[in-house]
Amino acid sequence: MTAIRVAPSILSADFSRLGEELAGLEAAGADVVHVDVMDGHFVPNLTLGPPVIAGLRKHAKLPFDVHLMIENPERYLEEYRHAGADWISVHAEAVPHLDRVLHRIRELGAEPGVALNPGTSLAVIEEVLPLCHHVLLMSVNPGFGGQAFIPSSTAKARRLAETIRTRGLPALIEMDGGLAPATVREPVEAGVSVVVAGSAVFGKPDRRAAIKSLREACA
Ligand code: DX5
Ligand code: ZN
Repeated sequence: MTAIRVAPSILSADFSRLGEELAGLEAAGADVVHVDVMDGHFVPNLTLGPPVIAGLRKHAKLPFDVHLMIENPERYLEEYRHAGADWISVHAEAVPHLDRVLHRIRELGAEPGVALNPGTSLAVIEEVLPLCHHVLLMSVNPGFGGQAFIPSSTAKARRLAETIRTRGLPALIEMDGGLAPATVREPVEAGVSVVVAGSAVFGKPDRRAAIKSLREACA
């Protein structure tokens, strides 16, 4: 079986009982908690910020993978790190100084990553790829859970995997959006090793079974 890390996205969880939703995740087989931060500017939706993340931190030991879908993320890095972010992804489309921001995230003791919208070329991360712990490829246009997987994301992951391999870099490929047992296999075969899943986990009553079927679909 392919070793993948499953990162349930709490965007699709019940926001009135986030603590409980999180508490069960580790036992259900999750590896990472994916936290979607939206500012209503970079994406047309609003979610949560550092105080909520800090409050949730005590409900799970799993690493928090904080996906910043916000403008000017460099202004808030310390706050997110302080709140408990272990991985921090910034969008290339929102950051003119990626090199500086990725160094800063690492300095703060978190794992830096760059997120790319479906319409953004891999070329924008060519220079900073060695600084990345992960690259977060969006396989939907960010903003909402439950959207349909964009099939060209698989070829993009394959090209990125090839670049990472030829350059001998350690970056992980994370994919986010529309991943479910029916769509996850091809991206994983292409080189995705961190699978974000919102509705495919929190949209199901049995989270353990949902995570298991994601893993089985990649076997
Ligand atoms: C979308 C978010 C995703 C979202 C994925 O903007 O970044 O993390 O929660 O949800 P699903 O898995 O339902 O597409
Ligand atoms: Zn996300």
